[in-house]
Amino acid sequence: MNKVLIFDTTLRDGEQALKSSLSVREKLVIARALSKMKVDIIEAGFPVSSPGDFQSVSTIAESISDATICGLSRAVDKDIEVCAEAVNKAARPRIHTFIATSEIHASSKLRKSNDEILAMAIHAVKHARNLCGDVEFSCEDAGRTDPDLLCRVVEETIKAGAKTINIPDTVGYTVGYQFGDIIKNIFERVPNVDDAVISVHCHNDLGLGTANSVMAVLNGARQVECTVNGLGERAGNASLEEIVMILRTRKDIFNVETNINTKEISNTSRLVSHICGVPIQPNKAIVGANAFSHSSGIHQDGMLKNQSTYEIMTPESVGLDKNTLNLTSRSGRAVIQHRLANLGYEKDTYDMGKFYANFLALADKKGSVYDDDLEALMEIGSDVDESKYSLEYLNVSSGRGIIATSTVRVSDGDIILQEAATGDGPVDATYEAISRATGMVLEVVDYSLSGVTGGRDALGEVKLIVDYNGKRFHGHGSSTDIIEASAQAYINATNKVERNIKVEEVRKSKNK
Ligand code: KIV
Ligand code: ZN
Repeated sequence: MNKVLIFDTTLRDGEQALKSSLSVREKLVIARALSKMKVDIIEAGFPVSSPGDFQSVSTIAESISDATICGLSRAVDKDIEVCAEAVNKAARPRIHTFIATSEIHASSKLRKSNDEILAMAIHAVKHARNLCGDVEFSCEDAGRTDPDLLCRVVEETIKAGAKTINIPDTVGYTVGYQFGDIIKNIFERVPNVDDAVISVHCHNDLGLGTANSVMAVLNGARQVECTVNGLGERAGNASLEEIVMILRTRKDIFNVETNINTKEISNTSRLVSHICGVPIQPNKAIVGANAFSHSSGIHQDGMLKNQSTYEIMTPESVGLDKNTLNLTSRSGRAVIQHRLANLGYEKDTYDMGKFYANFLALADKKGSVYDDDLEALMEIGSDVDESKYSLEYLNVSSGRGIIATSTVRVSDGDIILQEAATGDGPVDATYEAISRATGMVLEVVDYSLSGVTGGRDALGEVKLIVDYNGKRFHGHGSSTDIIEASAQAYINATNKVERNIKVEEVRKSKNK
């Protein structure tokens, strides 16, 4: 068996760790994306835990036909019956039932002997099998369970009818070789192990969730439970995108395949982050904003010569357009020359030494340098001015039951431009008022607001990307007042558009 089944539990283990639960509609949107990405099993929730969870599981069961839809239940008759009812309408329903098997959980949480726990596990699996043909059983805290007991529970629950046996490292305690050995031991000692799929479910408390999962695959596990962006209880679960891309990128080691359409990974990751309100750290493997962006001059030079120098997988393989080479003061001449060539400037038409000196001065001042900055440097020179307009006055009224209204005063040298507008919220009203004042309407294609410092008086930073006549420009602004930060960012972008208009005029006059 060279196929590893991907069991996604974003909607169950991932969701249970969110500050507020997702609505049925939000869960359905995520389930559709998971199904498009071709996950094999979607764990849609824990039906007995709340009426909302029941509703979500049954709605997903009814609506998604090309993945197995699974619900979680404790090893308790009532849980199992409610779960069976929730998944009942699925084309491929599954009941997932569990009980803890480790000494600490048995004695402190359940207050039961090993024999009692084994009896409960067998009963739960049999009861579930009477209600559903596909039953998965999990030995909670298997990572800290006595190996003899673990083998006994696995053997007996397979006999009772479980088709999948899941081995969770519930508290993320094991390390790679050790977790691999747990799986190896099960394959060596459980006589009926071939009658079930052995699955793993690793938490990330020591940052080893993904590593432990792939060690299990190396030792025979053929289902991996994971979540998009690694969401989950405490430090989260093993991350779906990491596991899938490890198995694909290191096929030389694992020699297995998954059914996942990896081109859907980036979109699904963004969707989950957006709906769950959990931002992705920029350096997160596979899906972080920097995962395919190169900053060091040496790396950029290598990338221009051969992408494989610094990339072990392509951005296209996870559904991104291309990698990015960030232009900063660390960038070398080769990458600047390459970028200028893309903008239409042949290398023998300018003095690279002089241009590079101007580039470094600008990069030191601004941090990141974008294509429109390069064009301005090329056409206008080092005194590139991006401060035509500045914000002099801002007054906003908004709130519940009030139409957001904004009045702005923007200066253009000695001229003061004043306008007011209403809008769909205070930011929209402000952007409309600024557009009226400057006569420049920009389409905001990306807007992000983040707190730069902590506390109630945190400095808010707004970064946005606008589209003007098919060209993209970046704007940023910061202030303790987030509407003012938003206004500053819009004015900053407007100034860049103005500068670009000037650049185009200079270019045209040079070409005459
Ligand atoms: O972490 C865990 O043990 C679980 C089980 C319910 C599978 O989430
Ligand atoms: Zn878990």
